[in-house]
Amino acid sequence: MSPDVLAQDQAAELRRLVAQRARTAPARPATARVVAVTSGKGGVGKTNLAVNLAVAAARFGKKVALVDLDLGLANADVVLGVTARATIAHVLSGRLSVFDALTPAHGLLLLAGASGTESHANLPAAERERLRDAFGRLAERADLVVLDTGAGISRGVVEFAAAADEAVVVTTPEPTALVDAYAAVKLISREPDAARLRLVGNQAADRAEADRASAGIVSVARRFLQADVDRLGYVLRDPAVGRAVMSRAPFVVAEPRSAAAECVRNLAARMCGAEARPGGFVERVFRLLRRGA
Ligand SMILES: Nc1ncnc2c1ncn2[C@@H]1O[C@H](COP(=O)(O)OP(=O)(O)OP(=O)(O)O)[C@@H](O)[C@H]1O
Ligand SMILES: [Mg+2]
Repeated sequence: MSPDVLAQDQAAELRRLVAQRARTAPARPATARVVAVTSGKGGVGKTNLAVNLAVAAARFGKKVALVDLDLGLANADVVLGVTARATIAHVLSGRLSVFDALTPAHGLLLLAGASGTESHANLPAAERERLRDAFGRLAERADLVVLDTGAGISRGVVEFAAAADEAVVVTTPEPTALVDAYAAVKLISREPDAARLRLVGNQAADRAEADRASAGIVSVARRFLQADVDRLGYVLRDPAVGRAVMSRAPFVVAEPRSAAAECVRNLAARMCGAEARPGGFVERVFRLLRRGA
């Protein structure tokens, strides 16, 4: 037998084995925990928190996917310091599978956002189905999926945050941010089967200031919404955050000894200890995507 024929036979055998393994390998259940980082007021630090939490969790050994769901002004790629090879728009249009659209960076996989994409409620049926399929595939491969949502309390933001396992509501100590964070908590908590609500006090001068801000929301939510909100923690106001953005690297990488990096590692450690809730994000997203149909 000539070497060419032998090589062809071997390649055919290999393909057959791979195909067989794909058919017989048990599907990994969709167990990824999904954490949506959201807020009421814009500009409070969601993207910086989502990116740095995701990188810190990846450094703790988790398989992490970061999805930029900010449909207005997507910029997680910029904070992560990468040029995205593709965006969620390629996945929605069916041009790429979600795995071909992911960009690796700092130990995680980024599905970059596409500014100007339609909210899921307005997506045509085929695109909704592709979005659901993309989340299903990500959830099968990752341990943790971090969503960076857009600012504000539009239906799309609230529904995705509520469908997550945890909705991390970011606020600063400013009264305007607190009022808007409470509004976000209220809307998310009213969704059926809503995510566990957790607060992060960002840009606090010290721990006491962050605690005071979060304590107010926790007690008002309990009293008026009968909603349990817990405090995930805080991140100090730190010039290292702005410096890292300017140097186009996450601050946990560019400034690992900074106060902000230490705070985020604490949050990530706390977050990585929790479990996914039963039911599954993909099923919940499917329900809400059907609702928009
Ligand atoms: N802990 C912090 N200390 C100092 N500056 C911070 C901190 N967190 C965020 N910032 C700064 O706040 C600004 C807004 O941050 P970021 O873009 O992450 O907010 P956002 O909530 O994602 O905004 P948007 O609502 O527009 O999506 C940035 O200039 C960032 O450098
Ligand atoms: Mg943002």
